[in-house]
Amino acid sequence: MDKVVEEISKIGIVPVVALEEEKDAEPLAEALCKGGIPCAEVTFRTKAAKDAIHIISTQFPGMLVGAGTVLTTEQVEQAVAAGAKFIVSPGLNPKVVQYCIDKNILVIPGITNPSDIEIAMEFGLEVVKFFPAEAAGGLKMIKAMSEPYSKMKFMPTGGIHIGNLNDYLSFEKIVACGGSWMVKKDLVAMENFEKIETLAREAVRKMLGLELMEIPDLCVNGCITIGTNFMERALYHLRLQGVAFDEATKETDDKGKIKAIYLKGESGSQAVQLVQK
Ligand code: 3PG
Repeated sequence: MDKVVEEISKIGIVPVVALEEEKDAEPLAEALCKGGIPCAEVTFRTKAAKDAIHIISTQFPGMLVGAGTVLTTEQVEQAVAAGAKFIVSPGLNPKVVQYCIDKNILVIPGITNPSDIEIAMEFGLEVVKFFPAEAAGGLKMIKAMSEPYSKMKFMPTGGIHIGNLNDYLSFEKIVACGGSWMVKKDLVAMENFEKIETLAREAVRKMLGLELMEIPDLCVNGCITIGTNFMERALYHLRLQGVAFDEATKETDDKGKIKAIYLKGESGSQAVQLVQK
């Protein structure tokens, strides 16, 4: 898997943001990072996009910043020069896709039908954006289209919110969900970055679904078991919070996916294990 796709997949949520003024780029990026989503797709729907990408990529080097609503090769050039690590488009423009491939930058073009998936495959792409996701048939449509194109992966965007996020993410062909629900224009306009941070944190919590599964009998040498909806994403996000895992305790399933791992260190006298729910 492409390294950037892998990172997007672990982050799980791609906030789609339109910034009217570049002064908002720094507090927005800070709010997203504090809320646990070190990622942003800054859309070229506003004039501030290029400068906003530059500010985020230079001031928040740990953040994965991409450009969205990229419609022309000129915009690809501006986005890459500003530090974008990936390019997203609402549709599949062969010129834009080829230009990105030539520039060796990840491109995720929008599609809604099998013909466009086949064009994407001709370009050798492994991920497409499914846009506008809810209006174009939602998860049901993605599942139906995945049947003949078993290798293609999707990043649905459009109409995704905290309530349907996990339905999408639970389908293995979906690498991540894009959406603007935690970075709405009015929140940015009102400079309500605290709310953006809260919404980001809430989205990560909902996605990971961390939950105490078992509290051992204190007399038994058992362990505290915490379940998660998505093991790889939980590992990524918990590591971001400074949690360390004991790699030697990793248990995998027959596909090589981690199903359980112990945290390093102890909570009181009990070991803590993270498990896939
Ligand atoms: C996009 O640009 O990809 C969408 O407009 C985001 O869709 P949403 O606002 O419904 O999340």
